[in-house]
Amino acid sequence: MAEPKENVLMEKIVSLCKRRGFIFQSSEIYGGINGFWDYGPLGAELRKNIRDCWWNDMVRSRDDVVGLESSIIMHPKVWEASGHVAGFTDPMVDCKVSKQRFRADQIFFSSVIVDGKTVGYVSALESDRLAEELQESAETFKRKKAIQGKLEPVQPREFTEARPEEIPLVPSPATGEPGSLTPPRAFNMMFQTYVGALRDESAIAYLRPETAQGMFADFKAVLDTGRVKIPFGIAQIGKSFRNEITPRNFIFRSREFEQMEMEFFISDEDDWQKWHRYWIDWCREWLLSVGLPASALSEYNHPKEKLAFYSKGTTDIMFHYPFGVQELWGIAARGDYDLSQHAKFSGTALGYFDEAAKRRYVPHVIEPAVGVDRILLAILCSAYHEDQMPDDKGKMETRVLLKLHPRVAPIKVAVLPLLKNKPNLVTKAQEVRDLLRKHMNVFYDDAGAIGRRYRRQDEAGTPFCVTVDFETFEGMKEGPLAGQTDTVTVRHRDDGRQERLPIASLLPWLLDRVR
Ligand code: GAP
Repeated sequence: MAEPKENVLMEKIVSLCKRRGFIFQSSEIYGGINGFWDYGPLGAELRKNIRDCWWNDMVRSRDDVVGLESSIIMHPKVWEASGHVAGFTDPMVDCKVSKQRFRADQIFFSSVIVDGKTVGYVSALESDRLAEELQESAETFKRKKAIQGKLEPVQPREFTEARPEEIPLVPSPATGEPGSLTPPRAFNMMFQTYVGALRDESAIAYLRPETAQGMFADFKAVLDTGRVKIPFGIAQIGKSFRNEITPRNFIFRSREFEQMEMEFFISDEDDWQKWHRYWIDWCREWLLSVGLPASALSEYNHPKEKLAFYSKGTTDIMFHYPFGVQELWGIAARGDYDLSQHAKFSGTALGYFDEAAKRRYVPHVIEPAVGVDRILLAILCSAYHEDQMPDDKGKMETRVLLKLHPRVAPIKVAVLPLLKNKPNLVTKAQEVRDLLRKHMNVFYDDAGAIGRRYRRQDEAGTPFCVTVDFETFEGMKEGPLAGQTDTVTVRHRDDGRQERLPIASLLPWLLDRVR
């Protein structure tokens, strides 16, 4: 069966997430709060598996990366040194009529030019079809105003580039009418709070907008205690907070999210391009290892003129989400900017002494930074499938399944007694569950027809279902295990294939496949 069309696909994924307990709107019983999400029983497991895979591969399996958990609220000077207090802003635009708020860099506009003369303006929000949408709007504009002549192709520009005299002429994406958009103004995205009893300027602190600064602020502490040598990395997983102007696309851009970041410190004389490439490739391979298809991944190199002055280069690994190709993982070469800034603001030397060369220098850094939530969404989008399978009565029906990689699947195996009113089946199934659950997340289900139970696990992305049936006791009638008792059926999620295995070999068989 054909895969669902992209916009429909997103709706189906959101609905599945809610139905099966992956993701809920935060505080839903109070009407929800925009940009915040809760992860239900399956979502919590999926997130944990993503974090564990990353931590295991990035930290535990390497000799040159160590872990860190720094606090969410840090000394406010950290954010002055990092540049976030002054510059962590997005350009914000209000529509005075609809009261909607936009990011100016997500509104695009074009003049409508007929026979070489500007006759008006059209606008659209950023999308994969931006140029087509603007062109269609320009044609509609010309037709409605009954303007004769040759319409020129549109030239999309960001609203941030609008000249002052153009701003009142650009239609609001909310109303389609000009005159209601305000000029863009800088909006700092850090959430502020107060530390201690006083609520004055001196007590202001921030919820961290990235985990990275923890690694820079603790660089000396790790160096002094961690027995690490350049090149080495410090990695951290943790919550970050950004007061995004337009949280959107489900969990893609939220106000509270989780990052997995690693700062890899190299010598100032080392070849940063070599390390940059190394980490881009590492990140790409890692994404494949958790089940993302290579065909959905691409690379985007930030143009030199858009980079911060200290940045040597940034490459994003992009993922083809149903709502467009978007940033998944950024790999930035940040020079010695961060350590130098913290040294300057704190008055603490943050250099590294190279024993062999008898030389002190400030290390440079390569930073792969990714959001857990964005990976989780990419995984769900690529795992969602629909196909046709026979139900319990042999009638073909549409089946929804998540083809999750066993490494990240929330439930690794479901254990099912064929019937719940046969004590011997139930007891044996519970024994199998207890044998397996010490090693992996197991789900025990005895409710309903076996076919329905398989379907429930398909939707949860469970790669294997183990069924205890009468042949478990009576012995197999035929096949390679003929006559043998204590065997179970293992059903494969993706193709519904079934095979028979002795209970004695079930655990190693599963461990081989889910790790
Ligand atoms: N320390 C560098 C840094 O934070 P970033 O590109 O702003 O760089 C890194 O963020 C990653 O964090 C992004 O590639 C994305 O995966 C994730 N991320 C950023 N903002 C997010 C948001 N509002 N919601 C969800 N994930 C976000």
